[in-house]
Amino acid sequence: MKFIVINGPNLNLLGSREPNIYGTTTLDGINDSVKEWAESNQIEIEFIQSNHEGVIVEAIQNAGRSADGIVINPAALTHYSVAVRDAISAITIPVVEVHLSNIHAREGFRAVSVTGHAAKGIVSGFGPSSYILGLEALKQIVEKQ
Ligand code: DQA
Repeated sequence: MKFIVINGPNLNLLGSREPNIYGTTTLDGINDSVKEWAESNQIEIEFIQSNHEGVIVEAIQNAGRSADGIVINPAALTHYSVAVRDAISAITIPVVEVHLSNIHAREGFRAVSVTGHAAKGIVSGFGPSSYILGLEALKQIVEKQ
């Protein structure tokens, strides 16, 4: 089984970016926990982070041809990117959206997830654990297929 973990704009700054909201764990730190989870579940993982919408769209398209599932934190793209949403709709592998913060407990514009409409489900508000919970959900979905 192979999953792709995709992170959108500004998530490369985790650790120093608004630590009161996103915590102090860096993206490398999150990826290390994901690697640990993947090893114990015998799942291959590939990581992609980009600050560019088109790169995220291409990563989703490529994953659709080469992987069994995607965990994605689209970051700000969550709230406005029809291109990312359409890319998720265009592929047949399952996609689970994750967020570190609870997007429903923040500014009103964050409560709308344009991309989440196309995902199987959303995990939001559990800090770095959101990624592991998302991966667990994705694994269950793929195993039931
Ligand atoms: C985020 C929430 C988004 O609203 C924000 O733009 C981010 C991070 C999260 O993980 O909590 O960049 O996706």
